[in-house]
Order: sequence, then C-alpha cells, then structure tokens
Amino acid sequence: YDYDLLVVGSANADLVIGVERRPGAGETVLGSDLAVHPGGKGGNQAVAAARLGARTALLARVGDDAHGRLLLDAQRAAGVDTSGVLVGGAPTGVALITVDPSGDNSIVVSPGANSRLTPADLRDAQALLAASRVVSTQLEIPLETVVETVRNLAPGTRFVLNPSPPRELPREVLAACDPLIVNEHEARVVLGGAAGGGPEEWAAGLLELGPRSVVITLGAAGALVADASGTARVPSVAVEAVDTTGAGDAFTAALAWRLGRGEALAEAAGYAARVGAAAVTKEGAQASYPTAQEVDAL
Ligand code: RIB
Ligand code: NA
Repeated sequence: YDYDLLVVGSANADLVIGVERRPGAGETVLGSDLAVHPGGKGGNQAVAAARLGARTALLARVGDDAHGRLLLDAQRAAGVDTSGVLVGGAPTGVALITVDPSGDNSIVVSPGANSRLTPADLRDAQALLAASRVVSTQLEIPLETVVETVRNLAPGTRFVLNPSPPRELPREVLAACDPLIVNEHEARVVLGGAAGGGPEEWAAGLLELGPRSVVITLGAAGALVADASGTARVPSVAVEAVDTTGAGDAFTAALAWRLGRGEALAEAAGYAARVGAAAVTKEGAQASYPTAQEVDAL
C-alpha cells in the first residue's frame, strides 16, 4: 500500500469566536477576536494521522477561493497527499464555531463544495482507494458518496466510519464498518432513537445492525470497544480542556491508523484516547493535534 490511511471527507474553514455563553434566539452577544482555522472532519482526520507519522491522503472537494487555498496549504504542510483534492463547483465549506469557557463548542456547517463531492468523483479515484490500507469517512459529504466509497473498496482495505453529523445509515454502509465510531449522541441517532441502557447496551444494539466492530467514545470517561469477541472499557487521560473542537476527529484518525498497523481494537482505542486528550488541551482542531512523540510523553 502507498497510504496507511485515505480520508474521504469534508474540508471546512473554521471561523471561531470565543464566547462567555451562547446567544439565544433573537439575542446578540459579543465575543473574542475571530480566528480562522483549517478544519472539517475529513481534513482534520487527515492532518491528525499525518502528524502521527501515517502516510496519509485526502479525497475531498474545496472551492476555488481563499479558504480552499488555506485548507490545501494546511494539508500539505502536515504532509498529507492532496492529489485527490478536487477544486471548484461551490464555495469552500465553512464552519461557524463558538467555544465557551469550558472548552465546549457549538458548530453550524455550510457544506459548500463538500456537498459536491459526488459518487462519480469516487469512481474516478479508484487508484487512490486501491492504494490505501484503511479508508475513513464521516457524514459532512453526501451519503451517496459514502455508499459509493464502500462499493469501491479494494478487497482487504479496512473501512472506518464516524457518522458525524449523525443520521440513520443503510445496512450496506453499516456492514462495511470495522469499526463504526460514535459518541453517545451519534449512537442514539444511528440506533434510530431506540437506545435504552448505557454504552454496553448501545454497543450490543449497534453490532446487531451489522458492523464488524463498534467504538463508543465517552469523552473524559474514555471509550468502549466491542466486537464478536466481547466488550472492553478503555480509559482516557485526565487533561485540562481548552477547546474540544476536532478531538473526535483526531481520535478516529489515530484509531484507524493503529488498526491498519495490526493493533488490537482495545489497544488502538487506548492510543487514540491519548491523541484525543492531547488535542483538547490546545485551541483549534488541526493546530492542536500531537506528534507521536507528544503522545508518548503524555
Ligand atoms: O469535528 C470538528 C469539525 O467539525 C470542525 O473542524 C468543523 O469544520 C466541523 O466540521
Ligand atoms: Na483542540
């Protein structure tokens, strides 16, 4: 394989304002100076993996505009292969993000060019798919494009999905996931709202929908991993949260990369939890992602 990880997904310019509290309907609040960061769940995953040392490629679409150039520059600076990034068709995706003093965020995304990454674009990228050990996607691109990704996977390539933002998923996509990676909210939506009990019960319910393995991220409580061989809790590392934006993307990328290297699910999730923890200690998404040395030092 030429690539340890191919990320098929979104790239957004993140427009971030720090606020004391979020405005209600009809209300105006004053916030911090505006920060513009490279983001998007796909772009974030690619940068996170590359920073850890994975040979990484990104398949995405950005606009022919200043935001698109910012995002491409950030990918290249991190060492990501951007030969699969298509340009044009709509403005670059934008995420309007507010971050509160506890480090929690609220995000509104305008998908823009991400919504024009089509199944045909995927079919044109067969060579990239065939050259990748693991393929990772999220749901800021059209679901049809995720379906087409699954249909075009080379035999032996591992498929990882974080269904964010969440929706119910076709069986064909679920059956390809190894693993399906969800937080609590995403688990409930994928389960169709019928989620009683706790993480163990959700994992059992999700496995019944077809994925070969499931990872449920639990924030500061770590993660729960489940497959046919059983269920295990994975601890996190206690850190001071500054900005949680993109921490889940870093977790997913790290997990996908370590699984591709042959690590067991629980072991890979333990590593990914440390990567996610490191990411919440700094501002921004991609700007906060650790190197492998920084993870080892944690
Ligand atoms: O997961 C974090 C990301 O979600 C941000 O970078 C923003 O672009 C949104 O897509
Ligand atoms: Na961060």
